[in-house]
Amino acid sequence: MSGIPANLEQLLAKQLTNIKQAQAAEERAGAVQQTRFLSSEMTALLTRQVGRELFSYYVYLGLYNWFADLGLDGLAGFMKKNADEELKHTEKVNAYLVDTNNRPALPAIEAPAPEYDSAVAVAQAALDHEISVTADWKNIHGLAVNDNDPTTMALALWFVTEQIEEEDKTMKLVQKLKLAGDGLALLQIDEMYKE
Ligand SMILES: [Fe+2]
Ligand SMILES: [Fe+2]
Repeated sequence: MSGIPANLEQLLAKQLTNIKQAQAAEERAGAVQQTRFLSSEMTALLTRQVGRELFSYYVYLGLYNWFADLGLDGLAGFMKKNADEELKHTEKVNAYLVDTNNRPALPAIEAPAPEYDSAVAVAQAALDHEISVTADWKNIHGLAVNDNDPTTMALALWFVTEQIEEEDKTMKLVQKLKLAGDGLALLQIDEMYKE
Protein backbone atom coordinates (compact mmCIF):
# COMPACT_ATOMS: atom_id res chain seq x y z
CA MET A 1 0.00 0.00 0.00
CA SER A 2 1.44 3.40 -0.99
CA GLY A 3 -0.91 5.28 1.27
CA ILE A 4 -2.30 7.22 -1.73
CA PRO A 5 -5.95 6.50 -2.40
CA ALA A 6 -6.45 4.40 -5.56
CA ASN A 7 -8.60 7.02 -7.30
CA LEU A 8 -5.92 9.70 -6.68
CA GLU A 9 -3.26 7.35 -8.04
CA GLN A 10 -5.36 6.89 -11.20
CA LEU A 11 -5.83 10.64 -11.47
CA LEU A 12 -2.07 11.29 -11.20
CA ALA A 13 -1.33 8.57 -13.79
CA LYS A 14 -3.86 10.15 -16.15
CA GLN A 15 -2.35 13.61 -15.67
CA LEU A 16 1.12 12.21 -16.35
CA THR A 17 -0.14 10.62 -19.59
CA ASN A 18 -1.73 13.94 -20.61
CA ILE A 19 1.53 15.82 -19.99
CA LYS A 20 3.53 13.25 -22.01
CA GLN A 21 1.04 13.48 -24.89
CA ALA A 22 1.20 17.29 -24.85
CA GLN A 23 5.03 17.16 -24.87
CA ALA A 24 5.00 14.74 -27.83
CA ALA A 25 2.60 17.04 -29.72
CA GLU A 26 4.86 20.03 -29.03
CA GLU A 27 7.89 18.09 -30.30
CA ARG A 28 6.01 17.17 -33.45
CA ALA A 29 4.99 20.81 -33.95
CA GLY A 30 8.59 21.84 -33.35
CA ALA A 31 9.79 19.40 -35.99
CA VAL A 32 7.37 20.90 -38.53
CA GLN A 33 8.47 24.40 -37.55
CA GLN A 34 12.10 23.55 -38.22
CA THR A 35 11.36 22.48 -41.79
CA ARG A 36 9.79 25.87 -42.65
CA PHE A 37 12.17 27.48 -45.11
CA LEU A 38 10.48 30.80 -45.70
CA SER A 39 9.94 33.95 -43.67
CA SER A 40 6.27 34.85 -43.18
CA GLU A 41 6.82 37.91 -45.39
CA MET A 42 8.22 35.68 -48.16
CA THR A 43 5.33 33.24 -47.81
CA ALA A 44 2.89 36.15 -48.26
CA LEU A 45 4.79 37.54 -51.25
CA LEU A 46 5.01 34.16 -53.02
CA THR A 47 1.35 33.45 -52.32
CA ARG A 48 0.50 36.77 -53.98
CA GLN A 49 2.73 35.71 -56.90
CA VAL A 50 0.70 32.52 -57.43
CA GLY A 51 -2.21 34.91 -58.10
CA ARG A 52 -0.04 37.15 -60.31
CA GLU A 53 1.05 34.21 -62.48
CA LEU A 54 -2.53 32.98 -62.75
CA PHE A 55 -3.57 36.53 -63.66
CA SER A 56 -0.88 36.36 -66.42
CA TYR A 57 -2.61 33.23 -67.72
CA TYR A 58 -5.89 35.11 -67.69
CA VAL A 59 -4.39 38.13 -69.51
CA TYR A 60 -2.99 35.90 -72.28
CA LEU A 61 -6.22 33.93 -72.51
CA GLY A 62 -8.06 37.24 -73.09
CA LEU A 63 -5.51 38.21 -75.78
CA TYR A 64 -5.91 34.77 -77.38
CA ASN A 65 -9.67 35.36 -77.48
CA TRP A 66 -9.16 38.78 -79.12
CA PHE A 67 -7.03 37.41 -82.01
CA ALA A 68 -9.08 34.21 -82.38
CA ASP A 69 -12.21 36.36 -82.77
CA LEU A 70 -10.58 38.10 -85.78
CA GLY A 71 -9.54 34.78 -87.30
CA LEU A 72 -5.84 35.65 -86.82
CA ASP A 73 -4.89 32.09 -85.89
CA GLY A 74 -1.11 32.60 -85.88
CA LEU A 75 -1.25 35.45 -83.36
CA ALA A 76 -3.96 33.66 -81.38
CA GLY A 77 -1.64 30.64 -81.19
CA PHE A 78 1.21 32.81 -79.90
CA MET A 79 -1.02 34.11 -77.10
CA LYS A 80 -2.33 30.64 -76.25
CA LYS A 81 1.19 29.26 -75.98
CA ASN A 82 2.05 32.07 -73.56
CA ALA A 83 -1.12 31.38 -71.58
CA ASP A 84 -0.11 27.71 -71.22
CA GLU A 85 3.33 28.76 -69.96
CA GLU A 86 1.77 31.05 -67.35
CA LEU A 87 -0.28 28.16 -66.03
CA LYS A 88 2.95 26.21 -65.57
CA HIS A 89 4.47 29.21 -63.74
CA THR A 90 1.43 29.32 -61.43
CA GLU A 91 1.89 25.66 -60.57
CA LYS A 92 5.64 26.05 -60.10
CA VAL A 93 5.26 28.79 -57.47
CA ASN A 94 2.39 26.96 -55.75
CA ALA A 95 4.42 23.71 -55.65
CA TYR A 96 7.37 25.58 -54.11
CA LEU A 97 5.10 26.87 -51.32
CA VAL A 98 3.66 23.40 -50.71
CA ASP A 99 7.12 21.81 -50.74
CA THR A 100 8.26 24.28 -48.07
CA ASN A 101 5.37 23.19 -45.81
CA ASN A 102 2.97 26.03 -46.54
CA ARG A 103 -0.68 25.85 -47.45
CA PRO A 104 -1.13 28.94 -49.63
CA ALA A 105 -4.40 30.84 -49.12
CA LEU A 106 -4.99 31.49 -52.82
CA PRO A 107 -5.92 35.08 -53.70
CA ALA A 108 -8.83 36.18 -55.94
CA ILE A 109 -8.05 36.80 -59.61
CA GLU A 110 -9.17 40.09 -61.16
CA ALA A 111 -10.65 40.27 -64.66
CA PRO A 112 -8.27 41.33 -67.46
CA ALA A 113 -9.13 44.29 -69.74
CA PRO A 114 -12.07 43.22 -71.93
CA GLU A 115 -11.37 45.34 -75.02
CA TYR A 116 -8.49 46.71 -77.10
CA ASP A 117 -8.39 49.24 -79.95
CA SER A 118 -5.86 47.49 -82.16
CA ALA A 119 -3.52 44.53 -82.50
CA VAL A 120 -0.67 46.80 -81.35
CA ALA A 121 -2.62 47.66 -78.19
CA VAL A 122 -3.09 43.93 -77.52
CA ALA A 123 0.62 43.18 -77.85
CA GLN A 124 1.49 46.29 -75.81
CA ALA A 125 -0.80 45.07 -73.01
CA ALA A 126 1.11 41.77 -72.97
CA LEU A 127 4.46 43.61 -72.88
CA ASP A 128 3.37 45.96 -70.07
CA HIS A 129 2.21 42.97 -68.07
CA GLU A 130 5.49 41.07 -68.59
CA ILE A 131 7.46 44.14 -67.44
CA SER A 132 5.40 44.29 -64.23
CA VAL A 133 6.00 40.55 -63.61
CA THR A 134 9.76 41.05 -64.03
CA ALA A 135 9.55 43.73 -61.32
CA ASP A 136 7.66 41.24 -59.08
CA TRP A 137 10.41 38.64 -59.37
CA LYS A 138 13.22 41.14 -58.82
CA ASN A 139 11.40 42.23 -55.67
CA ILE A 140 11.09 38.59 -54.52
CA HIS A 141 14.79 38.05 -55.24
CA GLY A 142 15.64 41.15 -53.18
CA LEU A 143 13.68 39.88 -50.18
CA ALA A 144 15.28 36.42 -50.56
CA VAL A 145 18.73 38.05 -50.40
CA ASN A 146 17.70 39.96 -47.25
CA ASP A 147 16.28 36.77 -45.71
CA ASN A 148 19.43 34.79 -46.56
CA ASP A 149 17.07 32.40 -48.32
CA PRO A 150 19.07 30.63 -51.06
CA THR A 151 16.32 28.35 -52.41
CA THR A 152 13.97 31.29 -53.07
CA MET A 153 16.91 33.18 -54.61
CA ALA A 154 17.31 30.24 -57.02
CA LEU A 155 13.58 30.21 -57.78
CA ALA A 156 13.50 33.97 -58.39
CA LEU A 157 16.63 33.76 -60.54
CA TRP A 158 14.93 31.11 -62.71
CA PHE A 159 11.90 33.36 -63.15
CA VAL A 160 13.86 36.56 -63.81
CA THR A 161 15.94 34.71 -66.44
CA GLU A 162 12.72 33.40 -68.01
CA GLN A 163 11.44 37.01 -68.12
CA ILE A 164 14.33 38.04 -70.43
CA GLU A 165 12.91 35.76 -73.14
CA GLU A 166 9.29 36.66 -72.38
CA GLU A 167 9.93 40.40 -72.64
CA ASP A 168 12.09 39.96 -75.75
CA LYS A 169 9.57 37.95 -77.76
CA THR A 170 6.70 40.24 -76.74
CA MET A 171 8.71 43.38 -77.57
CA LYS A 172 9.46 41.95 -81.05
CA LEU A 173 5.75 41.30 -81.60
CA VAL A 174 4.92 44.92 -80.65
CA GLN A 175 7.55 46.19 -83.10
CA LYS A 176 6.31 43.99 -85.97
CA LEU A 177 2.70 44.97 -85.39
CA LYS A 178 3.62 48.67 -85.27
CA LEU A 179 5.35 48.31 -88.64
CA ALA A 180 2.43 46.36 -90.11
CA GLY A 181 -0.38 48.68 -89.01
CA ASP A 182 -3.94 47.41 -89.29
CA GLY A 183 -3.91 46.69 -93.06
CA LEU A 184 -3.06 43.62 -95.08
CA ALA A 185 0.42 43.44 -93.59
CA LEU A 186 -1.26 42.23 -90.39
CA LEU A 187 -2.18 39.05 -92.25
CA GLN A 188 1.48 38.56 -93.17
CA ILE A 189 2.51 38.91 -89.53
CA ASP A 190 -0.17 36.39 -88.63
CA GLU A 191 1.29 33.94 -91.18
CA MET A 192 4.74 34.37 -89.58
CA TYR A 193 3.37 33.20 -86.24
CA LYS A 194 1.68 30.09 -87.61
CA GLU A 195 3.49 26.87 -86.69
FE1 LIG B 1 4.95 34.03 -65.72
FE1 LIG C 1 5.12 35.69 -68.74
